Amino acid sequence: MNLPDPSVLYSDHLDELRRRADEALARGGFDHLVVPSGTAHYQVFDDRDYPYAVNPQFKAWLPLTHVPDSWLVYTPGKRPQVIFHQPHDYWHVVPAAPSGWWVEHCDIHIIRSPEQALPLLPPAARSAILGEPQSALGDHGPNNPQPVIDYLEYHRTYKTPYEIALMRQAQVLAVRGHRAAEAAFREGRSEFAIHMAYCAAVGQDATELPYGNIVALNEHGAVLHYTQMQTEVPSPLRSFLIDAGAGTGGYASDITRTYAAEAGSEFQALIDAVDAAQVGMGRAVRAGFDYKQLHLDAHLALASILRDFGVIKVSAEEALATGVSAAFFPHGIGHLLGLQVHDVAGFAASDRGGRIERPAGHPYLRLTRVLEPGMVVTIEPGIYFVDMLLDEVNKSGHGASVDWNRVAQFKPYGGIRIEDNILCTEGEPDNLTRPLFAAH
Ligand code: GLY
Ligand code: MN
Ligand code: MN
Repeated sequence: MNLPDPSVLYSDHLDELRRRADEALARGGFDHLVVPSGTAHYQVFDDRDYPYAVNPQFKAWLPLTHVPDSWLVYTPGKRPQVIFHQPHDYWHVVPAAPSGWWVEHCDIHIIRSPEQALPLLPPAARSAILGEPQSALGDHGPNNPQPVIDYLEYHRTYKTPYEIALMRQAQVLAVRGHRAAEAAFREGRSEFAIHMAYCAAVGQDATELPYGNIVALNEHGAVLHYTQMQTEVPSPLRSFLIDAGAGTGGYASDITRTYAAEAGSEFQALIDAVDAAQVGMGRAVRAGFDYKQLHLDAHLALASILRDFGVIKVSAEEALATGVSAAFFPHGIGHLLGLQVHDVAGFAASDRGGRIERPAGHPYLRLTRVLEPGMVVTIEPGIYFVDMLLDEVNKSGHGASVDWNRVAQFKPYGGIRIEDNILCTEGEPDNLTRPLFAAH
């Protein structure tokens, strides 16, 4: 599959970021945008640092995810200034000299120690400094002005062609990993071994993956963010849920697949039903469609499946109204995706702030906006068999809505989630994930 080349799209991306920064600075009353890349954080009473995580406001400008103590400085009308920290250090691998498609578009200042950035920074009082408190240098402590952040985060929702190109690459990597993971599952490997097979195929580990891999066999699939990864292989092996992404140039993919060990099993049929419903939900990723509605429609679709499989005995509408569907589908249908796996501004009412609340009774939905072209969202319906939530159904007096024998039959399989990443366009939704599974 031919992928667009981000290097030829970067210049336009930078122009767009400059336009956004011009307006954001005007709104905040500042003359300069100053963005530290972030610093290492140390563990308490220890000299070990936590994995470094780059400031998302920094990697929005530059495809650099491993240059701590560096800075991006933008002044309207001028070229971006990159203060690039390349220490003299024989203990660690230091960042390579600046190279790549971004270099010719920026003025680069190499510094050898963090303090050398100070004389290169514009006056703090006139600067919007976006970052974490630990990045403070002299009087350049991050002030994170809300009008500036509101504007930049809101507009980050609309991906530039450069960003889409990088996100497509992140899909290719992750799908390669998913294929290797499925093969490892079919060979009867442990969660830990499957995780290692995934990382090897993607060429990334915990420091580069956009989030911790969820690799769950059997009933572990019912733990939404299961990250324990056992080294023992359970017996019998019934099911496999993997939620794993990849990062490219600072952009994330976030993909989930579920497999049954037995091809003709009823659990496989349930997976197939969720998969078909997920494809239908993906088709609703259209400009003008309210994502809150997409979430509520997903409840109805999943409750219909539960009814078809005899797990619930009430209509989909009743299951939604009584909270029974939420016991089986206890998370949101998805979220914005981009520089962060749960990308920002999912509730933003406008680029001047304000919040669009979630529908009552749906506390985990992460996106409440109306879809617009350029947004990339996940669509990730799931059905799980979680004791804690099923107990609550009983306690709330709706136990008669559920066929508990059917629940008991499915419980050893844990759960099902299917997650694709979908670009909203002016026309048809562009599913970034699914065609790659078909092609590999
Ligand atoms: N991987 C976390 C999520 O799907 O939101
Ligand atoms: Mn996921
Ligand atoms: Mn997700």
